[in-house]
Amino acid sequence: MKTDRMSRRDLLAALPAAGAALAPPLAFTRDDKPALLGGKPARTDAIPSWPVFDRSEEDALINVVRSGKWGRGNGEQVNRFEAAYARFTGAHGCLTTVNGTNALYISLNALGIEPGDEVLVPPFTFVATVNVVLRQHALPVFVDSDLDTFQIDARKIEPLVNERTKAIIPVHLGGSTADMDAVMAVARKHKLVVIEDACQAWVAQWRGRNVGRLGNCGCFSFQASKNINSGEGGAIISDDGEFIERCYGFHTQGRMRKGSAEFSYSMSATNLRMTEFQAAVLLAQLNRLEAHSKKREDNAAYLTSLLREIPGIVPARMYDGCTRNAYHLYMLRFEPEKFAGMTRAQFLKALHAEGVPLSAGYGPLNRSAFLKTTLQSRGFRRLFSAERIARWEEQNQTPVNDRMTREGCWFSQNCLLAERSTMEQIAEGILKVQKHAAEIARA
Ligand SMILES: Cc1ncc(COP(=O)(O)O)c(C=O)c1O
Repeated sequence: MKTDRMSRRDLLAALPAAGAALAPPLAFTRDDKPALLGGKPARTDAIPSWPVFDRSEEDALINVVRSGKWGRGNGEQVNRFEAAYARFTGAHGCLTTVNGTNALYISLNALGIEPGDEVLVPPFTFVATVNVVLRQHALPVFVDSDLDTFQIDARKIEPLVNERTKAIIPVHLGGSTADMDAVMAVARKHKLVVIEDACQAWVAQWRGRNVGRLGNCGCFSFQASKNINSGEGGAIISDDGEFIERCYGFHTQGRMRKGSAEFSYSMSATNLRMTEFQAAVLLAQLNRLEAHSKKREDNAAYLTSLLREIPGIVPARMYDGCTRNAYHLYMLRFEPEKFAGMTRAQFLKALHAEGVPLSAGYGPLNRSAFLKTTLQSRGFRRLFSAERIARWEEQNQTPVNDRMTREGCWFSQNCLLAERSTMEQIAEGILKVQKHAAEIARA
């Protein structure tokens, strides 16, 4: 029922013109008192909970239980999902893993990144991107972020390359893409390997090509919050078949595909295999991914058309080459000066009262204390000189990223599975908070 809500035309009329001085819209809802100050919440429609599942996941799990084949050694689900995901992304090959973190870790190993090497990473990412580099006893060197897109600023990569630099891990953050033309140009020039962290970007495309197929490989996550999920899970895709076979060996104790002797090992390795249960759930989830992605894209486009008219709300831009965004996160920046100087925490609190589930983005990962502790450990001191670590600290200046960590916010992907009217209620909630910003900031 929308009887006591504003129409889309009313909502657009209430939006102040982009760039205009803060001019609170008038009478944009029957109850324009902020919920935080006793009014009614702007959002009345439901936001779908996550995960979405039905009988197909339940049947798939029961079938695996009853088959008695629970591991990839004698089951068929993992092989089937790997073939299906390779087809879905257009990649030559796919290897599943226990999770996205270890998809990255396996890739680093299979591409020959060794202790003492340096790897370029963005600071605005989930900690796993950096942890895998540290676990390899390599040095993560942070490249500042691009304020407009929230992605690694590829223009700032080259000055950080030195003779020890071996790899770049661009992250396709939020499901949008890094500037892969620029990343690949530096990589080619300096012969660096490129491991795409596509853990949030299953359907994303760069100039019509699926992410993960632009660099040497791409790594995906199927962890519980992800747009396709099996609780935990991951995958590596690549067009390089030999690389996928090296990854295969590394993820199963150095044993190669069936046919090689049972107790012969091709490399020092580990066990990071996906189970049949995970793969069975993923096969069911994969059937929904395209329709869900389309809905997220439609709602995101509509939300952007509403939000970009609100001064102080700056939706993340996509690079021109990003031809598809997976929308794991709908990212935006909040500019406090356009909200009477209220803090981001006050803004989010007021929005939550309106039923608008906006969250703060990542914190300053590259300033985390654990980084220094790790780099000062005995192992790292053997691998990197005191001068190199001192220079690392000097280089670790990321002013743009620092600002993003103060202003960055996002909606999680399930918000974009709500109805179109929910996008309007989100915009209404933000407008209401803006109109009463001074009162809320004082409250
Ligand atoms: C950007 C990024 N990289 C890596 C990971 C690690 O994936 P997982 O949680 O499956 O280990 C995640 C997922 O949380 C992620 O968002």
